[in-house]
Amino acid sequence: MIKIAPSILSADFCHLGADLDSIKAADLVHVDVMDGVFVPNISFGAPILESIRKYTDMPLDVHLMVERPIRFCERYCRLGADTLVVHHESDTQENISASIDIIKSMEKRAGIALKPSTMASAIIPYLDRIDVVLVMTVEPGFGGQSFMTDMLTKVSEVKKLVEASGRDIDIEVDGGVNLRTAPLCCAHGANVLVNGTGVFEAADREKYIEELRGNLKPYFEI
Ligand code: DX5
Ligand code: ZN
Repeated sequence: MIKIAPSILSADFCHLGADLDSIKAADLVHVDVMDGVFVPNISFGAPILESIRKYTDMPLDVHLMVERPIRFCERYCRLGADTLVVHHESDTQENISASIDIIKSMEKRAGIALKPSTMASAIIPYLDRIDVVLVMTVEPGFGGQSFMTDMLTKVSEVKKLVEASGRDIDIEVDGGVNLRTAPLCCAHGANVLVNGTGVFEAADREKYIEELRGNLKPYFEI
């Protein structure tokens, strides 16, 4: 099943409640946490996550773009993340592995994210425990960038590794996903589509979300 995850990075933070109401047709709320160190941008952190958790019952897909995420895993799980995704590049493999263990011990879904320059094989040490692989299809840090088509090969490689593991692991794509690029991502094995700009700029967000989902059908029917 294809899941749609609007990124609230593109929302209007003065009207966040209304913006959350407008995306109920989606499956997950994608929450981008940036520290200005791991990525060249600062977004928001714990207080916003806490407010969102109080406001909506939708599953929260929290994407940590921070250095040494192990410092935040327990707190962010407690504050309401349903899925917590950490970047492979944000600490040593030992600490990333320990971060995943913390997330799982909090009975939450754990994910590993890969920057565009990181190879698919980086997920291998974590495959026995993770629930999600997030393939960045732009350089992390900003919404509204163009989709990197060469990342589709990586999505296929991740799909092969996931299949070989025999585990039920979501494959998520993030960055530049829209009505044109979404079908390509799904054809290469992605099943969770993050989309910020497209959703929040749409005049009718519910219709856009359904188009994003429905747009995929003709591809598979061909
Ligand atoms: C980028 C973020 C993305 C971003 C996607 O670093 O991780 O989630 O909000 O935005 P669009 O859909 O505008 O590329
Ligand atoms: Zn993201």
